[in-house]
Amino acid sequence: MPVVLIAAALAVVGLARVRHNPEAPPAGGDAGAAGPAVSGVPDRQTLRDLMPPGVRIGSAVDGRGLSLDPAYRTLLGAEFNGITAENAMKWRNLEPAPGVHAWTGADQIIEFAQQHGQAVYGHTLVWHSDVPKWVSPDWPPERIRAVLREHVTTVVSRYRGRVWGWDVVNEVLDEDGTLRDTLWLRKLGPGYVADAFRWAHAADPAARLFINDYGVEGRTRKADALLQLVRELRRSGVPVDGVGFQSHLRWDQPPRDLVGNLRRFAQAGVSVAVTELDVRVALPATPAKLEQQAKLYRQVLRACLAVPACVSFTVWGFTDARSWIPGYHRGYGAACLFDDSLAPKPAHAALLDELRRQPPRSGTGPSPG
Ligand code: G3I
Repeated sequence: MPVVLIAAALAVVGLARVRHNPEAPPAGGDAGAAGPAVSGVPDRQTLRDLMPPGVRIGSAVDGRGLSLDPAYRTLLGAEFNGITAENAMKWRNLEPAPGVHAWTGADQIIEFAQQHGQAVYGHTLVWHSDVPKWVSPDWPPERIRAVLREHVTTVVSRYRGRVWGWDVVNEVLDEDGTLRDTLWLRKLGPGYVADAFRWAHAADPAARLFINDYGVEGRTRKADALLQLVRELRRSGVPVDGVGFQSHLRWDQPPRDLVGNLRRFAQAGVSVAVTELDVRVALPATPAKLEQQAKLYRQVLRACLAVPACVSFTVWGFTDARSWIPGYHRGYGAACLFDDSLAPKPAHAALLDELRRQPPRSGTGPSPG
């Protein structure tokens, strides 16, 4: 066969492989003309195809979906170039007994990400919830400090170079902006926050280190307190690289001045990220409510894309079939981009449309890890 034809044939196969095989690492948008669908892979442009360089589009990953549901896996790989473990990297799941680690769930997520050219965001190292039962509140401070340090160091070291960013501390503030009353605060004092960042940084100096919270998306008293805390930590040389805005929103309650709020955090010298976005709807989820939900998803994405320091836009699960909302917010649900049968909802179409309206950006896409 003449060389020219061989080259042409290879190019076609190569293009098809790149276009419909999420194995290719993301380079900004994985743009390309829509082609015939490969089993389950959407026969259309996906969110990761259109995401501008420098900003990751991510989703929390439900371990059961990943291990049991091929259609879930295919959509996860096709739509997102970033993933976060919804539960697998929480302390009580990683270390059910002292020194006994259960890495399988977290390792599976890392492996999936590597196979799909996705960046992994680590959630979460120090939190007042999901603490292993064997950590006793009766222990003396030095013992609490030792096990907490061991945990942070062990986990970050294991995933060094494979996790681009960590929620080092999660939900440290109470609604009134004071430090939340937790085992860590009671036993170790307010310095535990700075210590956790220093331990994580020592274990992986290249990882981006975030403080993550909710109810801080708009200009609230809690957001003011978080900004103050971040400024103080950075002034004392604590390696806080970013702030995570969880963004668990209600369809009828948009955050007040989200863009202005993200900008003022960026001006404090940190990256910002939308880390756990979902938009719950009071059931039944009527078409009108789903349109309003779509508007709010679009508003949050537009806010992130308007702030150059916004490096990641992550939804807290992408299908209503595996959302935490119905279990925690009685009477609410339908919070995600895809419905129970993995069909895209108006919110997904709104995000695609918002991305298509974005002016082209120069530069390369986010590099996984
Ligand atoms: O896996 C066990 C299963 O074996 C057992 O049969 C079942 C019944 O007890 O529990 C299952 O574990 C549950 C796990 O979700 C997986 O479904 C835990 O009980 C339940 O507490 C856990 O809830 C998670 C919650 O955090 C607490 O860790 C939610 O899925 C998760 O979406 C939620 O996520 C948090 C973020 O980490 C922090 N920000 C808020 C966000 C929403 O609350």
